[in-house]
Amino acid sequence: MDVDSAIRRRRTHKHYGAEPVSEAVVRELVELARWAPNHKLTNPWRFRLLGPETRARIDAIVPEAEVMKLRRAPTLVLVTAARSDDPVRAEEDVLATAAATYAMLLAATERGLASYWRTPSCFREASVRAVLGLGDDEVVVALVHLGPPVTDPPAKERAPVDDVFRVQP
Ligand SMILES: Cc1cc2nc3c(=O)[nH]c(=O)nc-3n(C[C@H](O)[C@H](O)[C@H](O)COP(=O)(O)O)c2cc1C
Repeated sequence: MDVDSAIRRRRTHKHYGAEPVSEAVVRELVELARWAPNHKLTNPWRFRLLGPETRARIDAIVPEAEVMKLRRAPTLVLVTAARSDDPVRAEEDVLATAAATYAMLLAATERGLASYWRTPSCFREASVRAVLGLGDDEVVVALVHLGPPVTDPPAKERAPVDDVFRVQP
């Protein structure tokens, strides 16, 4: 699949098959994600493939409605950015990590996987962050959901190019 096709075909999937994505494939996605543009090559991104023990500990402390949402995908990858003390670097590092996350979604699409970029509000809570081993020096950028597709979600239209593009004279 070429890049244009992956960009056009990627969708937010909220339903998945049960088969987890192998650690080897997740590693491939991380290997690709880390080629994202990154000012000063700070390597700000951190990727955690959440295993059953961690997922069970989170399920035990979040509300039932959230548990149901977290169980939608067989594979969850937490993407965080290291929090720099320098405000410019901190902003750029989050942007670079977002670019890496998008690369991960496109690479997943190319592999026929369904995906979903989610930012659960409970991942801002101290109790959940403690289970994940997140200190104040990491910002959650995405909880990437991955798994086999079981639906074919329709495209959500965007504003047309003429609404968002100008040639500045
Ligand atoms: C930074 C970021 C955070 C997001 N967080 C959520 C979220 O918490 N819940 C959700 O349903 N979708 C979330 N999304 C996905 C968007 O809602 C989704 O991309 C949008 O509806 C367009 O649909 P599409 O991805 O199928 O094109 C997030 C996307 C981004 C970029």
